[in-house]
Amino acid sequence: MPAREVIIVPHPTLRKKAAPVTDFGAETQQLIDDMIVTLHEESGAGLAAPQVNVSRQVILVEFGSEEDESIPPTLYVTINPKISRFSKELVSGAEGCLSIPGLMGEVERSQEIVVEGQDRHGEPLKMKLRGWIARIFQHEIDHLNGILYTDRATNVWETDENFNPV
Ligand code: NI
Repeated sequence: MPAREVIIVPHPTLRKKAAPVTDFGAETQQLIDDMIVTLHEESGAGLAAPQVNVSRQVILVEFGSEEDESIPPTLYVTINPKISRFSKELVSGAEGCLSIPGLMGEVERSQEIVVEGQDRHGEPLKMKLRGWIARIFQHEIDHLNGILYTDRATNVWETDENFNPV
Protein backbone atom coordinates (compact mmCIF):
# COMPACT_ATOMS: atom_id res chain seq x y z
CA MET A 1 0.00 0.00 0.00
CA PRO A 2 1.51 3.35 -0.93
CA ALA A 3 1.97 6.01 1.67
CA ARG A 4 -0.73 8.62 1.99
CA GLU A 5 -0.57 12.17 0.78
CA VAL A 6 0.07 14.82 3.42
CA ILE A 7 -2.48 17.63 3.11
CA ILE A 8 -1.44 21.23 3.63
CA VAL A 9 -3.12 24.42 4.81
CA PRO A 10 -5.81 25.61 4.23
CA HIS A 11 -7.29 22.11 3.81
CA PRO A 12 -10.45 22.03 6.01
CA THR A 13 -9.65 18.61 7.56
CA LEU A 14 -6.75 20.27 9.40
CA ARG A 15 -9.30 22.41 11.29
CA LYS A 16 -11.70 19.62 12.28
CA LYS A 17 -11.83 17.85 15.65
CA ALA A 18 -10.77 14.25 15.05
CA ALA A 19 -13.11 11.45 16.13
CA PRO A 20 -12.01 8.86 18.72
CA VAL A 21 -10.93 5.44 17.45
CA THR A 22 -13.25 2.70 18.72
CA ASP A 23 -12.38 -0.09 16.29
CA PHE A 24 -8.82 -1.42 16.32
CA GLY A 25 -9.40 -3.72 13.35
CA ALA A 26 -7.85 -3.95 9.90
CA GLU A 27 -8.78 -0.46 8.72
CA THR A 28 -7.13 1.21 11.71
CA GLN A 29 -4.06 -1.04 11.44
CA GLN A 30 -3.72 -0.15 7.74
CA LEU A 31 -4.03 3.56 8.54
CA ILE A 32 -1.26 3.28 11.17
CA ASP A 33 1.03 1.32 8.82
CA ASP A 34 0.45 3.84 6.01
CA MET A 35 1.14 6.71 8.41
CA ILE A 36 4.46 5.11 9.47
CA VAL A 37 5.56 4.83 5.81
CA THR A 38 4.46 8.42 5.21
CA LEU A 39 6.32 9.69 8.29
CA HIS A 40 9.51 8.05 7.06
CA GLU A 41 9.07 9.21 3.45
CA GLU A 42 8.61 12.78 4.67
CA SER A 43 11.47 12.51 7.19
CA GLY A 44 9.15 13.80 9.88
CA ALA A 45 9.40 13.52 13.66
CA GLY A 46 5.65 13.25 14.09
CA LEU A 47 2.41 12.86 12.16
CA ALA A 48 -1.28 13.08 13.07
CA ALA A 49 -4.02 11.28 11.10
CA PRO A 50 -5.77 14.53 10.07
CA GLN A 51 -2.57 15.37 8.15
CA VAL A 52 -3.32 12.43 5.85
CA ASN A 53 -6.93 13.58 5.60
CA VAL A 54 -8.31 11.07 8.12
CA SER A 55 -10.12 12.78 10.98
CA ARG A 56 -9.35 10.15 13.65
CA GLN A 57 -7.39 10.33 16.89
CA VAL A 58 -4.17 8.63 15.80
CA ILE A 59 -0.70 10.16 16.22
CA LEU A 60 2.85 9.03 15.59
CA VAL A 61 5.93 10.44 17.26
CA GLU A 62 9.42 9.25 16.44
CA PHE A 63 12.16 10.24 18.79
CA GLY A 64 15.88 9.55 18.64
CA SER A 65 18.62 10.53 21.05
CA GLU A 66 20.01 13.98 20.36
CA GLU A 67 23.25 13.07 22.15
CA ASP A 68 23.85 9.74 20.45
CA GLU A 69 22.69 9.24 16.86
CA SER A 70 23.71 5.58 16.96
CA ILE A 71 20.71 4.87 19.20
CA PRO A 72 17.83 3.94 16.89
CA PRO A 73 14.81 6.18 17.16
CA THR A 74 11.77 4.95 19.07
CA LEU A 75 8.40 5.11 17.32
CA TYR A 76 5.39 5.91 19.51
CA VAL A 77 1.96 5.09 18.10
CA THR A 78 -0.71 6.65 20.32
CA ILE A 79 -4.45 6.31 19.83
CA ASN A 80 -7.01 8.61 21.49
CA PRO A 81 -4.29 10.56 23.31
CA LYS A 82 -5.18 13.05 26.03
CA ILE A 83 -2.81 15.22 28.03
CA SER A 84 -3.80 14.68 31.66
CA ARG A 85 -1.13 16.94 33.13
CA PHE A 86 0.79 19.97 31.85
CA SER A 87 3.77 21.30 33.80
CA LYS A 88 3.58 24.99 34.73
CA GLU A 89 7.15 25.27 33.50
CA LEU A 90 7.10 26.40 29.87
CA VAL A 91 9.86 26.27 27.29
CA SER A 92 10.12 28.10 24.01
CA GLY A 93 11.27 26.20 20.92
CA ALA A 94 11.17 26.21 17.12
CA GLU A 95 8.59 24.06 15.32
CA GLY A 96 7.80 23.26 11.74
CA CYS A 97 4.87 21.28 10.35
CA LEU A 98 4.58 18.98 7.31
CA SER A 99 1.19 20.59 6.63
CA ILE A 100 2.63 24.14 6.65
CA PRO A 101 5.56 24.11 4.22
CA GLY A 102 8.01 27.00 4.13
CA LEU A 103 7.42 28.28 7.66
CA MET A 104 8.78 27.73 11.14
CA GLY A 105 7.72 29.34 14.37
CA GLU A 106 8.64 29.84 18.00
CA VAL A 107 6.11 28.16 20.32
CA GLU A 108 5.89 27.99 24.11
CA ARG A 109 5.01 24.51 25.36
CA SER A 110 4.91 22.78 28.72
CA GLN A 111 8.29 21.28 29.57
CA GLU A 112 6.67 18.14 30.95
CA ILE A 113 3.34 16.42 30.26
CA VAL A 114 1.51 13.21 31.11
CA VAL A 115 -0.15 11.57 28.08
CA GLU A 116 -2.83 8.92 28.46
CA GLY A 117 -4.27 6.96 25.58
CA GLN A 118 -4.09 3.58 23.94
CA ASP A 119 -1.55 1.66 21.91
CA ARG A 120 -2.34 0.38 18.39
CA HIS A 121 -4.09 -2.68 19.83
CA GLY A 122 -6.27 -0.68 22.22
CA GLU A 123 -4.27 -1.38 25.38
CA PRO A 124 -4.10 1.57 27.78
CA LEU A 125 -0.95 3.71 27.80
CA LYS A 126 0.30 6.33 30.21
CA MET A 127 3.56 8.21 29.65
CA LYS A 128 5.38 10.99 31.44
CA LEU A 129 7.32 12.95 28.83
CA ARG A 130 9.78 15.79 29.03
CA GLY A 131 11.54 18.18 26.65
CA TRP A 132 11.57 17.77 22.87
CA ILE A 133 9.40 14.64 22.85
CA ALA A 134 6.83 16.37 25.07
CA ARG A 135 6.81 19.24 22.55
CA ILE A 136 6.13 16.89 19.61
CA PHE A 137 3.28 15.19 21.46
CA GLN A 138 1.70 18.57 22.26
CA HIS A 139 1.99 19.57 18.57
CA GLU A 140 0.44 16.30 17.34
CA ILE A 141 -2.39 16.30 19.90
CA ASP A 142 -3.17 19.89 18.84
CA HIS A 143 -3.66 18.53 15.29
CA LEU A 144 -6.43 16.25 16.66
CA ASN A 145 -8.20 19.35 17.94
CA GLY A 146 -7.85 21.34 14.72
CA ILE A 147 -5.11 23.55 16.22
CA LEU A 148 -1.96 24.42 14.24
CA TYR A 149 1.29 25.63 15.79
CA THR A 150 0.93 28.93 13.96
CA ASP A 151 -2.13 29.61 16.19
CA ARG A 152 0.16 29.49 19.24
CA ALA A 153 3.43 30.83 17.83
CA THR A 154 4.90 34.05 19.20
CA ASN A 155 6.94 34.45 16.03
CA VAL A 156 6.69 32.82 12.58
CA TRP A 157 9.28 33.08 9.82
CA GLU A 158 9.78 31.86 6.27
CA THR A 159 12.45 29.22 5.75
CA ASP A 160 13.64 26.58 3.31
CA GLU A 161 14.91 24.61 6.26
CA ASN A 162 12.88 21.49 6.99
CA PHE A 163 14.07 20.56 10.45
CA ASN A 164 12.18 17.58 11.93
CA PRO A 165 8.75 18.75 10.75
CA VAL A 166 5.80 17.31 12.69
NI1 NI B 1 2.19 19.46 12.34
